[in-house]
Amino acid sequence: MTSSATSLTASPFDVSGRVVAVTGASKGIGWALVQALAAAGATVIGGARDVSGLTLPGATFLPLDVTDETSVGAFAEAAKQAGVDSLVNNAGVGSFLPVQDITPAEYHRVMDTNVLGTLLVTRALIGQFQARHARGHTSSLVNITSDVSGRTFAGGALYTASKYAQRAITQALAHEGHSYGLRVTEIRPGMVDTYFADSQQGEAHKAAWLRPEDVAQATLYALSAPAHARIDEILLHPTVQDVAF
Ligand SMILES: NC(=O)c1ccc[n+]([C@@H]2O[C@H](COP(=O)([O-])OP(=O)(O)OC[C@H]3O[C@@H](n4cnc5c(N)ncnc54)[C@H](OP(=O)(O)O)[C@@H]3O)[C@@H](O)[C@H]2O)c1
Repeated sequence: MTSSATSLTASPFDVSGRVVAVTGASKGIGWALVQALAAAGATVIGGARDVSGLTLPGATFLPLDVTDETSVGAFAEAAKQAGVDSLVNNAGVGSFLPVQDITPAEYHRVMDTNVLGTLLVTRALIGQFQARHARGHTSSLVNITSDVSGRTFAGGALYTASKYAQRAITQALAHEGHSYGLRVTEIRPGMVDTYFADSQQGEAHKAAWLRPEDVAQATLYALSAPAHARIDEILLHPTVQDVAF
């Protein structure tokens, strides 16, 4: 099992009784989020392409490829059966190449995972959120985008294009979801110490970066907002990251 070695402190956020679907649940931010949600009393349906060996009380892990409609359909069906009330679109991949080196294959790897994946999983659960609204309940959706969903840099064309697109989808969905009681939040982390872009968690140069648990707690904050409040956006950075980058 891939997992963070960092232990969790008790969460001040109450998500007991909630049923939360999390994509990209096997490592990094997603795995920290699954642990934090389960520790705070939520039931979690977690998906990733490789979920072998993953076990945690309060969580069910299912194979999920967010780029594949059939896989997404099976995941969404299991989440509906469990009574899902919240979705966290977290699955994502990184790619940092100058424009002249971006191939169509790399374009599809990144855009299909980060953009199409967000659309497919969201779309598969909107009927559930609408049905909950008809019964008088609100639902929640959190998209883990990035601080670069609104700025870019050399070598960032493809990744930031995917994150700008996720931000646009998030904001459009917030407009649409207003009519069916869906509270939509964009969480925009700066540098986080995970397995992102083929790196390893715990590398020395990332010691002062955000921990996946920091992003998990921000997500719990958004999910546990009282019914009369909506957290539209959270932008968080490690202290060492200059605000200009
Ligand atoms: N790390 C950072 O500095 C940082 C900063 C800002 C935003 N983010 C965003 O945070 C999110 C999580 O990234 P992370 O840093 O936690 O990376 P990570 O440690 O590499 O974890 C990525 C997760 O996504 C899953 N995943 C990848 N492709 C998938 C697919 N096609 N279908 C389903 N699951 C898939 C992976 O599992 P499998 O490979 O088994 O599928 C894994 O569970 C991403 O959206 C990323 O863009 C990261």
